[in-house]
Amino acid sequence: MEAKNTFQIQVFLSCILLFGTLSTKSLEVGYYKCTNTCPQAEEIVRGVVYKYVLQEPGLGAGLIRMFFHDCFVRGCDASVLLDPSYLNPNPEKLAVPNNPSLRGFEVIDAAKSAVEQVCPGIVSCADIIAFAARDATYFLGMISYEIPSGRLDGRISIADEVLKVLPTPFHNLTVVKALFAAQGLSADDVVALSGAHSIGRSHCSSFTNRLYPTIDSTLDQGFGYLLRSKCPENAPVDGVVPQDFVTPTKLDNKYYQNVKGLKGLFFSDWSLLTSDETANLVNDFRTTPQFFEAKFAESMVKMGNIPLLSGTPGEIRKSCRAVNY
Ligand code: HEM
Ligand SMILES: *[C@@H]1O[C@H](CO)[C@@H](O)[C@H](O)[C@H]1NC(C)=O
Repeated sequence: MEAKNTFQIQVFLSCILLFGTLSTKSLEVGYYKCTNTCPQAEEIVRGVVYKYVLQEPGLGAGLIRMFFHDCFVRGCDASVLLDPSYLNPNPEKLAVPNNPSLRGFEVIDAAKSAVEQVCPGIVSCADIIAFAARDATYFLGMISYEIPSGRLDGRISIADEVLKVLPTPFHNLTVVKALFAAQGLSADDVVALSGAHSIGRSHCSSFTNRLYPTIDSTLDQGFGYLLRSKCPENAPVDGVVPQDFVTPTKLDNKYYQNVKGLKGLFFSDWSLLTSDETANLVNDFRTTPQFFEAKFAESMVKMGNIPLLSGTPGEIRKSCRAVNY
């Protein structure tokens, strides 16, 4: 009883801090608890994410990537979740970097409906993506961090914008760094967040240009032959391979080992070795897992703070797949 009172006083105090900054629309750790609008929100999302990721770890990879693809386009506003509609036939979801490879939408749907049952109309889809990516990071990497919340969902989603702001696997370090810088993210963030390529999968089409007609010199030749066996030239379907062949479901610093050994799948992965600044960090993350974990967590929070593009006020969507009427 006494412990509960202390807890309530703490919540009350942090709410004062919250209301002090609300005018600037800044996000707050524990927003739904602090405002007492949906104290269970984060636990409910975590339970749903856990259920799905336990069954299929690849969905956790999908959720972490979804957070990235959401935040880079117009800020973290769940614009990536909107389905095509009569009024908006070509949303972000249909753009090449998302379609057909982005996955985990069913996890967000399930989390949203679970949250709606307890606190209807309160929790934004943008926050659910941020929570889900945080939880997936913990389940797959034992990396934990607090993620501020209080986001609103956007009403604009345009496929053409995706290609302009997201890096492709064919981009060199100069371009990747510039695209991150445009979001307020540093070269260190590029290196840390690229560590997410130690989980999940990739379609062959993102790297077959490094395999044919000759195996690129930026790729370990033996690894190149392995990839050729998984991704035959002119295959009728776009196959998939794991990002990390050794620990595909563990978000660990193995990625940096791969990059250094010229066993990263993408040209963009290899390109981290092309400046001293980024190559040194690859080396540090490779040798010191705790350093990678701390920096990855920090960069995920930073990505979650990318400012919204439009000044139009957002909403709390009823369905994550459609704007409200
Ligand atoms: C640096 C620039 C980046 C490029 C060029 C890039 C590109 C790609 C590509 C082409 C794929 C393969 C998708 C597929 O075919 O299924 C992929 C997968 C993935 N990316 Fe990135 N990415 C970048 C940065 C990031 C960041 C910042 C994150 C998140 C922190 C991230 C997380 C992931 C994850 C988790 C997967 C596996 C997805 C799955 O298994 O469904 N990537 N990335
Ligand atoms: C990186 O790519 C851009 C765009 O293709 C190109 O203009 C630039 O010269 C490249 N930089 C390096 C260092 O290769």
